[in-house]
Amino acid sequence: MWNRTKVSELLGIRYPIIQGPFGGRFSSAKLLASVSNAGGLGSFGLNSYQPEEILEINRQIKAATDKPYNLNLWIPLEESHQTDYSGENFEKWKSEFGKLYKKLDLPLPEMPRTKRPINNEQIEALIQAAPPVASFIFGIPNESVIRELQKVGTKVIVAATNLEEAIAIEESKADIILATGREAGGHRPSFKRRASDSLLSTEELAKEVLSNVSKPVVVAGGITDGYKANQFLKLGVSGVQIGTAFLACDESNASEHHKELLRSESSYTTQLTNIFSGRLARTMSSKLVSDFDSVKSDAIAPYPLQSQLLAPAMKELKARGMFEYTAHWAGIPSSLIVERNAESLLRSLVTQIESDQF
Ligand SMILES: Cc1cc2nc3c(=O)[nH]c(=O)nc-3n(C[C@H](O)[C@H](O)[C@H](O)COP(=O)(O)O)c2cc1C
Repeated sequence: MWNRTKVSELLGIRYPIIQGPFGGRFSSAKLLASVSNAGGLGSFGLNSYQPEEILEINRQIKAATDKPYNLNLWIPLEESHQTDYSGENFEKWKSEFGKLYKKLDLPLPEMPRTKRPINNEQIEALIQAAPPVASFIFGIPNESVIRELQKVGTKVIVAATNLEEAIAIEESKADIILATGREAGGHRPSFKRRASDSLLSTEELAKEVLSNVSKPVVVAGGITDGYKANQFLKLGVSGVQIGTAFLACDESNASEHHKELLRSESSYTTQLTNIFSGRLARTMSSKLVSDFDSVKSDAIAPYPLQSQLLAPAMKELKARGMFEYTAHWAGIPSSLIVERNAESLLRSLVTQIESDQF
């Protein structure tokens, strides 16, 4: 049976289909539970949540499903991967993005005070929550963290955007490697090389990773239907992770406008940009990207400063309904997204995979 793979066995799920986690508060317990209850693995992105919120979300999830589910966190990148951002660069930022603030008749933002990183506390809450599955991007958790999670019964998935990262995950204690190709929506979670140097297609990356590792591999990036998912299962991956097609479903926390765009022809026009957050991420076309096309890379603040500095302008743009300037995160779809309901989407993925067995 196509659905009996190393991943479905290891995670105790009926179908090796994972609903990708969403940061930026786009995840919902309802979406997660719909997918898990229908036999896939629902996920929840916790990157922006405080430790006590993580425990509360975990309680909500447990009340909505008794099936396996996945909680997701980001690992902080080492300083060396960030661009240097001094006061002088903030002047450059102001001279470029000041144009946007002027256009909106808003005062220039102040440099935000840096917040204390809370990743260690988030990880402690995650261990306390003891979800059946935990996934990580932008790095590999410390060995002791992986061991603690495994001790409480949690299986660990770590994302790779290039072969070097996949080999590092293979050599770690993690259980599953997620190979995420350039078609994927949202951030490129590279951690050993620059994201801009980690842009193999999902298929190229899957082939490279599969021939160099022995741990089970899940692929993500550009899968919106069962035929595409099946191409990867036939290549030998043990599971597929799908983000954008689930983001477009009623149960996700994305805005109605975002969902409508994801289900329209405009979903075929996406681009990678670091203009919204300071890190490379895939979004549908945005006027902010085209208007600021010529901005020098050192005038873009590093993550997460860039999004903090743009926040007042983004709020105003949304309030005025100028959505053509805002980010609409999306992957490159393998076909137009038609399903509006997560359970129907999962069922149609399964039907398409099953009709494509020979
Ligand atoms: C809006 C958005 C937010 C995302 N946030 C996260 C996140 O916080 N953590 C994570 O592991 N992956 C995140 N992803 C990646 C998805 O989980 C998934 O791997 C990816 O969307 C797969 O590619 P696809 O969109 O082409 O299906 C995000 C994707 C999107 C579109």
